Amino acid sequence: MCGIVGYIGKAGATTVLINGLRRLEYRGYDSAGVAIIDDDRIVISKSPGKVARLNDKTHADWDPTVFQRAIAGIAHTRWATHGPPTEVNAHPHLDQSGDVALVHNGIIENYRALRARLEGLGHHFYSETDTEVLAHLIGECNKGDLFQAVCDALHQVSGTFGIAVLSANEPDRIITARRGSPIVIGVGDGETIIASDSSAIVAHTQRVIYLDDNDIAIVTADSVEIRDLNNVPVTREIAELNLDAAAAEKGGYDHFMLKEIHEQPDTLSNTIRGRLDFDLGSSVLAGMGTSPRELAELNRVVLLGCGTSLHAGLVGEYAFEDLADIHAEVQQAAEFRYRNPILGSRDLVVAISQSGETADTLAAVREANQKGAFVMSLCNVVGSTIARETGRGVYLHAGPEISVASTKAFTSQVAVLIMMALKLGRGRRYSREDGIKLGREIESIPTLVARVLRQDEHIAKIATTYANNEHAFFIGRGPMYPVALEGALKLKEISYIHAEGYHAAELKHGPIALLENGTPIIALAVDIPGKDKTLGNIEECRARGARILGIVTEGDHETAECMDDFITIPSCHPLVATIPAVVALQLFAYHVARIRGCEIDQPRNLAKSVTVE
Ligand code: AGP
Repeated sequence: MCGIVGYIGKAGATTVLINGLRRLEYRGYDSAGVAIIDDDRIVISKSPGKVARLNDKTHADWDPTVFQRAIAGIAHTRWATHGPPTEVNAHPHLDQSGDVALVHNGIIENYRALRARLEGLGHHFYSETDTEVLAHLIGECNKGDLFQAVCDALHQVSGTFGIAVLSANEPDRIITARRGSPIVIGVGDGETIIASDSSAIVAHTQRVIYLDDNDIAIVTADSVEIRDLNNVPVTREIAELNLDAAAAEKGGYDHFMLKEIHEQPDTLSNTIRGRLDFDLGSSVLAGMGTSPRELAELNRVVLLGCGTSLHAGLVGEYAFEDLADIHAEVQQAAEFRYRNPILGSRDLVVAISQSGETADTLAAVREANQKGAFVMSLCNVVGSTIARETGRGVYLHAGPEISVASTKAFTSQVAVLIMMALKLGRGRRYSREDGIKLGREIESIPTLVARVLRQDEHIAKIATTYANNEHAFFIGRGPMYPVALEGALKLKEISYIHAEGYHAAELKHGPIALLENGTPIIALAVDIPGKDKTLGNIEECRARGARILGIVTEGDHETAECMDDFITIPSCHPLVATIPAVVALQLFAYHVARIRGCEIDQPRNLAKSVTVE
């Protein structure tokens, strides 16, 4: 939920730290701060608001030589969990001596008890944060060895943390540790950089080390020494990122979201490439780590996720039942572990998460593991916690998704879920011929999406008609029902229009009471089974004055004529059609938000990865 950067190596650390925060700002942008070591003392600057304000403040507050000569420091951009986004609550936080600085991502669940104990020892706190309590606890444990002090403090903590710690008395090192919040260490040439994710590292090095839970590392300019919290040495391999800095930039688009919408033909190609077998009429998903016999013995698929990932799971539910004749159900990840789920070894649990760090989904994975289910994940971020804790699954290969509103991850998730369902189906009653035919349709998805993207200007024009509404309803049937939910989420989270998705038949069971003259109905009226029923639902809405924007199939002129406005998608398999259909809704939401002048990549109140319950 927050972005952490640590750097040690060459002069110019402050600039490296602030630029790193810029790359991580999508993780949270309520407030920001930076601490460096200068002349054996900690120098710190913090400010509410975005990183740009911190940069201005630091230039104003600090002597230019200090700003330029620092070789070590830590920095943080915050998504508030404890205490409002003020300067005093911004990280880094200091211990009581002022010689130790800490940045933290996560939640210290027992911080109140720790704070009371420390106050009893004479500690005084300035902020409302749990993080300041951890800083003071480290200070209290510090007997001259920062590593041991951090170890001792973390043994007293319950909750989650990804931290970086700096001490004026040990200027040649940074201590970093994680439990439940990601930490990646970039190994450079005479410099080392610590970050919450690799987008802040890629400009410096492609060589990275992912810390595991309860790892703690001593990081210097030339070395990374990793131990566990019991001070036992641990070996973690150096991985290659294979990520270029440009990939983390906007590529000439006004917003990351528009870039990520338009790069979907490429990202979907990357997702699908090498994963279809036209001899067997099946898919090749080696990461699932399962034999056909193991798959054939499964009797249920449980799909877990939150938000957009939950919606992808809802499409997956249709795919598994349609292609594999297996019972499939979607569970809201936050609810899953508290309902004491009935699971066993013949249940396949698929955790869907773009970031691979969503706390609710991670907790659900741990519950499914506890119950002995067959657990795997569908993640985009390589080496993310959920990917590593499930130990098997499929990576999306969609590249970094920077915009808080998820777009390319959703379409890649759906593509993988259809391929997973095909793989299961081919181990059951789905024929080779049907598998080859569906494989060809899956292979064509990038082309289908490109045809929708070519309507960008048309969709932008339509958006002007709907940009001033304060309410909107999205409706669909079958696999288009989750697409309606996802379209509504996209519109509400970036344009702040109150948008709701409903099954097309559900509107008349109450919500239709909300329709007034001109209320927009965005209807998934594509040419798949159930279309005629949807058209009937559309007429029920029109009879009450609604304005209809239809997503219709190319060439279906009769249906198009029923709409006030329409966007077309190519004719294709009903499951495959969910992908071009959602791309139309992504562009619609983007242009409405743009016209309304909204902050599209970093909408208010949101963060890219929700790493708290
Ligand atoms: C989607 O646009 C939102 N940003 C949000 O619903 C997101 O999908 C959800 O928080 C799950 O994130 P994850 O896929 O990284 O687990």
